[in-house]
Amino acid sequence: MKSIAITSGKGGVGKTNVAVNLGLSLAAKNKRVLLFDADMGLANVDILFGFTSKHNVGDVLDGKFHLRDVMVEVSNGMSVLPATSGLLQLEHPSQSELAKLAEQMDELSQDFDVLLLDTGAGLRDTVLFFSSAADEVLVVTTPEPTAITDAYAMIKVLKSDYQVKSIKLLINEALDDKEGRDVFNKLANVSKTHIDFELDYAGWIAKDIHLEKAVRKRKPVVESFPSAPSSLSFQRLVKDFNSIFTSQSQPLMSSFWQELLQQRKVGS
Ligand SMILES: Nc1ncnc2c1ncn2[C@@H]1O[C@H](COP(=O)(O)OP(=O)(O)OP(=O)(O)O)[C@@H](O)[C@H]1O
Ligand SMILES: [Mg+2]
Repeated sequence: MKSIAITSGKGGVGKTNVAVNLGLSLAAKNKRVLLFDADMGLANVDILFGFTSKHNVGDVLDGKFHLRDVMVEVSNGMSVLPATSGLLQLEHPSQSELAKLAEQMDELSQDFDVLLLDTGAGLRDTVLFFSSAADEVLVVTTPEPTAITDAYAMIKVLKSDYQVKSIKLLINEALDDKEGRDVFNKLANVSKTHIDFELDYAGWIAKDIHLEKAVRKRKPVVESFPSAPSSLSFQRLVKDFNSIFTSQSQPLMSSFWQELLQQRKVGS
């Protein structure tokens, strides 16, 4: 199971929509996809799908259920692990709680090809933990200067403090291929010059009124408007999927321990 953390510096740049629509598009190509709403404390994958869940990851941390029991199948080939909003415990999980989640996710690895982790935004512990534990990190930004600046801050911390070796950049809400490339080149140059880090380009997703309409309808754009510009962008991302995400799959748990040991070294 290949794990991909979908993250950003600034909030509201489209992570959850990317996770949901990329997931559905992969499932349409016969991949078995699990989407973990890891934006704990501010969960909203269920809102985008228009479902309400009886149980959530909070019940797993309480020890009442296994992740397997809280999974919801949202479409053929795609399941979601819902989080819940407003639970302090989920906003600041302890290391042993994170370890439990990583362990149980690894136990699901036979059942899925791709695990998408919608991590939430910013330099918070859980965001950084899931980003450093996953096989791949997809940083989402829009062409807005504030989003680009915050994406750079995120990339810097992931590289310098969390030893993340490879980061893919996705430009959401781009006008066209040229704007996507321009934003990527700008960030790639800054990263190369200032932190000696080579960013990879994952592509761009069109700025699209259909996507906003789909959010209001609580039905993902690739399902509501399959031939809208943003839906076609997701199809392209899936077509390029294997050449973008080339890292070896590792259990989340092994990265978890590596990170803990690293923190001890930093702390001592
Ligand atoms: N490609 C797009 N075209 C037009 N609007 C978009 C696009 N992507 C996102 N949006 C708008 O941005 C809003 C926020 O998107 P989303 O919830 O996916 O962001 P997020 O990064 O997950 O936010 P948060 O950081 O709060 O979790 C959407 O509700 C939609 O209105
Ligand atoms: Mg979100």
